[in-house]
Amino acid sequence: MKPRGYGFLLLLLHILKAAIALEQTNIISKLGDNATLSCIFNRNNLQLKNLRVYWQIADSYQKTCSVVHALMSGQEDNSKQCILFKDRTQLFWDRLEHGDFSLLLLNVSQRDRNTYKCIVQNTTEYSKVIYQAEVVLSLAVSYSQPILSGPIKNNDSTEGEVTFNCRSGNGYPKPNVYWINKVNNSQLNASKTEIISHKNGTFNVFSTLTMKATSNMQIECSIENEMLQENLSANYTQLKKSSTESDENLEKKGRGAQAAGIIGIVFVIGLLTGLICWLWRRRSSNLVSYKDVKPREDQGGLNSPV
Ligand SMILES: *[C@@H]1O[C@H](CO)[C@@H](O)[C@H](O)[C@H]1NC(C)=O
Ligand SMILES: *[C@@H]1O[C@H](CO)[C@@H](O)[C@H](O)[C@H]1NC(C)=O
Ligand SMILES: *[C@@H]1O[C@H](CO)[C@@H](O)[C@H](O)[C@H]1NC(C)=O
Ligand SMILES: *[C@@H]1O[C@H](CO)[C@@H](O)[C@H](O)[C@H]1NC(C)=O
Ligand SMILES: *[C@@H]1O[C@H](CO)[C@@H](O)[C@H](O)[C@H]1NC(C)=O
Ligand SMILES: *[C@@H]1O[C@H](CO)[C@@H](O)[C@H](O)[C@H]1NC(C)=O
Ligand SMILES: *[C@@H]1O[C@H](CO)[C@@H](O)[C@H](O)[C@H]1NC(C)=O
Ligand SMILES: *[C@@H]1O[C@H](CO)[C@@H](O)[C@H](O)[C@H]1NC(C)=O
Ligand SMILES: *[C@@H]1O[C@H](CO)[C@@H](O)[C@H](O)[C@H]1NC(C)=O
Repeated sequence: MKPRGYGFLLLLLHILKAAIALEQTNIISKLGDNATLSCIFNRNNLQLKNLRVYWQIADSYQKTCSVVHALMSGQEDNSKQCILFKDRTQLFWDRLEHGDFSLLLLNVSQRDRNTYKCIVQNTTEYSKVIYQAEVVLSLAVSYSQPILSGPIKNNDSTEGEVTFNCRSGNGYPKPNVYWINKVNNSQLNASKTEIISHKNGTFNVFSTLTMKATSNMQIECSIENEMLQENLSANYTQLKKSSTESDENLEKKGRGAQAAGIIGIVFVIGLLTGLICWLWRRRSSNLVSYKDVKPREDQGGLNSPV
């Protein structure tokens, strides 16, 4: 049993060594961008007609649709190419002779997140593998500019707490959310952070911060895309206390003026009513006196010709 065990271990070490020897690179692409999968076997004056270059998906579960691109004796042979890569792959023809077999993958989508393997064989030597490289393609999408809302006063809280909300979306991978008190650049803990995924794999993020209200709050919400080394932030700065006070004063003054205006109008209406009444009385009394006088005038009129 023992020797066999050791043999297995040696075999495993051998495999591991082979895996380490294989060049592996990681690249990050944004959705919809073109990605260059690199495979550089630095040799000059290569005879392309004696070479076979395969680009394939390395992941073992991917058996049915694994051929990404193939170059046989200097000719592209994409008869076995997986349909997902049709018209989306290009070799750099001017660099092939210098041993650069890098592949340009157009319009990268979520489905392209794979480990790709480039295998170069020498067809004159029993198809011996003379070079291979692996490329891990990861995807990233920038988050949208975060939107910060608040502060909203909490009804039920005793200590005058306020709530801020921050949201951003359509990014990949999952973000980190930071709340920062800009007064002293200290980090604040979110009371709740929710990350929701879309069908297309991207995420939306909603975060809530609850804190004690202070006199000059300066709050920043920052959405970090670690893969892209990108931080997008939105901030809130409370208006100066004095300005809000003067606003209140202005409001008070405004209300005062309004009240004065109303009182003035009522006063003028009263005055006008009084005046009208007085005029009416005078007119009535004139009428009375006119009536009183009229018969006399008539009399007089009648009298005078007589
Ligand atoms: C990707 O490559 C294609 C073809 O070369 C080009 O038309 C397109 O503008 C490129 N897209 C980006 C995002 O660079
Ligand atoms: C890129 O791929 C997406 C699907 O993944 C497709 O909807 C879009 O039309 C493609 N864009 C171009 C320029 O081919
Ligand atoms: C391919 O194999 C032949 C025969 O062994 C050898 O002469 C040639 O140099 C090899 N080519 C490369 C690129 O290794
Ligand atoms: C605050 O009070 C209003 C009305 O009184 C109510 O509609 C609202 O849901 C309350 N908000 C919270 C967070 O309790
Ligand atoms: C930063 O300031 C807040 C008050 O605005 C205070 O509660 C907090 O303890 C301070 N943090 C540090 C690290 O000084
Ligand atoms: C934030 O949470 C971490 C761990 O959850 C804790 O160690 C830290 O003290 C908290 N900070 C504040 C300001 O509450
Ligand atoms: C993903 O889906 C969401 C919601 O359907 C959409 O708003 C967003 O633009 C999509 N993102 C990409 C990169 O296609
Ligand atoms: C993003 O901001 C946070 C909080 O300020 C910081 O810890 C992190 O290092 C920043 N990341 C990048 C990529 O700048
Ligand atoms: C806060 O955000 C505004 C725009 O929303 C920006 O003009 C200002 O520079 C930001 N302040 C800080 C301290 O980041």
